[in-house]
Amino acid sequence: MSYIEIRNIFKIFGPDPKSALELAKAGSDKDEILASTGHTVGLHDVSLSIEQGETFVVMGLSGSGKSTLIRHLNRLIDPTAGEVSFGGEDILSMDIPTLNAFRRKRLGMVFQRFGLLPHRNVMDNVAYGLEIQGKPRKAREAAASKWIERVGLAGYEAKFPDQLSGGMQQRVGLARALATDPEVLLMDEAFSALDPLIRSDMQDELMKLQTELHKTIVFITHDLDEALKIGDRIAILKDGKLIQVGRPEEIVLHPADDYVQAFTRDVNRGRVLRARSIMRPISDTDSSHHTSDVKIAHDTRLDEIVPYFLDSTYALPFAVVDSDGCIIGTIGKSNVLDVINK
Ligand SMILES: Nc1ncnc2c1ncn2[C@@H]1O[C@H](COP(=O)(O)OP(=O)(O)OP(=O)(O)O)[C@@H](O)[C@H]1O
Ligand SMILES: [Mg+2]
Repeated sequence: MSYIEIRNIFKIFGPDPKSALELAKAGSDKDEILASTGHTVGLHDVSLSIEQGETFVVMGLSGSGKSTLIRHLNRLIDPTAGEVSFGGEDILSMDIPTLNAFRRKRLGMVFQRFGLLPHRNVMDNVAYGLEIQGKPRKAREAAASKWIERVGLAGYEAKFPDQLSGGMQQRVGLARALATDPEVLLMDEAFSALDPLIRSDMQDELMKLQTELHKTIVFITHDLDEALKIGDRIAILKDGKLIQVGRPEEIVLHPADDYVQAFTRDVNRGRVLRARSIMRPISDTDSSHHTSDVKIAHDTRLDEIVPYFLDSTYALPFAVVDSDGCIIGTIGKSNVLDVINK
């Protein structure tokens, strides 16, 4: 079910956005508008539906409009034109008190630079949102303790941010965002400042939490590997325009244009592609005739399938089965070569 709806958003930065808006609507692009009016196009006619409970990743090069997009979701900025709603509720028409309550209760935010309060210890940082909501100390510390434990920081409650590594600080950031039990988590380059190994741990941590929490997560990154790993769906922005939205496999197998293709070229396909998108589908009538030594689950990754091909004791092609064990397709050498060479 669609939860966050973004409809035809334009955001123009500069002294007279409305005049530049007319040019944008008439089809001028970011470079032309900058050259002719000095205005910067942040977003150009972006529409997106984000489903409840999905991890939705927004990616694109620096300056493509990622942060501008996420700032429309917490209304840090208002669009020059367009609509934004959460669960059918128009957030652009909220007055200030309603907006403040919306941000406090329904949104959790995790920032690249962690954004921790330096003079508060871990416990008081994580409990901060609940304190703002007016929760009594006992209740907020109980909730905060639970989240501190969940992100693996039990025992560090009394430490201050400057006593923690970057990875630990971001765990505090994540615990703080989750402590108020928000509907939506907004994460702008949340892991980008971390070392590669720590970053990978944090991605795993977030994915593990998400299998239990099913929050609606909007996650911004400029790193395609990160996007492909954690995203249920990925939106790709370029010069403020939405170029493609799709599941990781769709993005890799069917890039919408050269820009997306350039991103996907160096991707490790073994980790992204699954049996179901590599197989040759077969109809119900064929499936009863197919016998194979090897039955591969539909969501098996390509890099887990390849070893079977190297073992000559198995007869090809292999059968691909759905979650009920029914055969839905076959994979032979040609199917694998097609996706590796593409
Ligand atoms: N407050 C602002 N005033 C003027 N121009 C802005 C403002 N905020 C963003 N822009 C412009 O809007 C465009 C999109 O910027 P944005 O910060 O959304 O990019 P981004 O994709 O988040 O980039 P990065 O990966 O570097 O964070 C850029 O051209 C930027 O210069
Ligand atoms: Mg940004």
